[in-house]
Amino acid sequence: MAAIVPMARPIWTEEMRKEAIETLDSGIWVKGPKNRLFSDNFAKYCKASAAIPCSSGSTALYVALRLLGIGPGDEVILPSFTFIATATSVSLTGAKPVFADVETEYWCLCPHDTRLRINEKTKAILGVHLFGQAYHPKLIELAQKFGIPIIEDAAQAHGTELMENGTLMKAGTLGDIGCFSFFPTKNMAVGGEGGMITTNNVELGKRLHTIVNHGRDGSLISQELGTNLRMSEAMAAIGNIQLKYLDEWLMRRAEIAGKYLLALDQHPDIIAPKVRDDSKHSWHQFCILAQNPSKILEYFENQGISARRIYQQPCHLHTVYTTHEQYQEKFPVTDALSQSMISIPVHHGLYDNEVEKIVIALSNL
Ligand SMILES: Cc1ncc(COP(=O)(O)O)c(C=O)c1O
Repeated sequence: MAAIVPMARPIWTEEMRKEAIETLDSGIWVKGPKNRLFSDNFAKYCKASAAIPCSSGSTALYVALRLLGIGPGDEVILPSFTFIATATSVSLTGAKPVFADVETEYWCLCPHDTRLRINEKTKAILGVHLFGQAYHPKLIELAQKFGIPIIEDAAQAHGTELMENGTLMKAGTLGDIGCFSFFPTKNMAVGGEGGMITTNNVELGKRLHTIVNHGRDGSLISQELGTNLRMSEAMAAIGNIQLKYLDEWLMRRAEIAGKYLLALDQHPDIIAPKVRDDSKHSWHQFCILAQNPSKILEYFENQGISARRIYQQPCHLHTVYTTHEQYQEKFPVTDALSQSMISIPVHHGLYDNEVEKIVIALSNL
C-alpha cells in the first residue's frame, strides 16, 4: 500500500545533525553563542532591530504581553479563529481576551470588528497572520490611531510580507512586537520546542534579553518579574541552519500552493484561499472551505492524502472560556469557517509525486 501523504514532514539533514552534535559536544548547552547568533540572524532576516529566542511560540506571546505591561483589568483584542495559545497567552497575564470576528475573504482579524471593540481598557491588538496570510494593514493604522500597541502572532508566518508605506515589510516588523513559533510543523523549526520574539522598538528591544532570563540584567539582579523562558543552545544551532533555507522552502510552498489554486480554479463548490494584495503569503497551511467537510475528508483519506479539520472549535468556545462573557456570542464569519474548513498538506517536505497526487485529487473533487 502506498504511504499516506503526511500533513508535515520536518526537514532534518546531515548539516543540521552535525551542528546539533557539535553544539552538545561543546558542553555549552544554554546561554551561549548559538543563541546570540540565532538572535542576530533572525533579526537580520526580518529586518528587526532586536530578536530573542525563547522556549515556544506560546512563551513568545506571553512575553510580548508582559513586555507591554499588560495584566489584570486590561483587555486585548484578538481573533477567535486561531490556535488557542493566542487567547490563553492573554488570559495567563490576568488580562481579558476580547474576541473579534475575522475577514470573510482572508480569514485574519477583521479591522471593522476590532474597531468596534476598542475601549479605554484596550491595551493591545493581537493580530494573527493566519496560515501565513498577512493581517490587514488597517489593523496597524487602527493601533496607531488609538495609540495602542499591536502584537503580531507570527507563529505561522515566518517570511510573510506586507506592503507598509510603500515597502514590503516582513512579519516580525509589522507591529510593535512579533512572536514566532518553531513547532516542528512550522515554516522552519529547531528540532524541538522553540519560539522567537522580535521588535523594532528600541526600548522594548533593550528588555528582550532580560524578560526571558528571570527578569535579570547584567548584574544578575532581577529587575522585573520573570522566569526561565530561554531556548537551549542545540535548538538555536539547528534554527540557524534551518533559517538559511527558509526562503527556498517558502518558494517551494508557494509553488505547491500555486498548483493547488490552479486545480481548484472555478470549482463550483470548494472555496480556495485568496492572497491579500500587496503581500506575500508564506503558505504555512493551505485551507479550503467545503459545504460538507466530512465527505471531503473521506475523499482525501480514500486517496491516501492526510487532511484535517482546523479550528473546528474557535477559541471562545473552548471549555476554558465557558465563563467568559463572549462564550455565547455569535461571530458570523468565524462560525462559518469553523464549520467548513479543511487543511491539506502544502509543506516544503512534500515530494513531487505527492504534490501531483494532491493536484489530481483536487482536480477530480
Ligand atoms: C497562531 C499560533 N499562535 C501560537 C502558537 C503557539 O506556538 P507553540 O506551539 O510554539 O507554543 C501556534 C502554534 O501552533 C500558532 O499556530
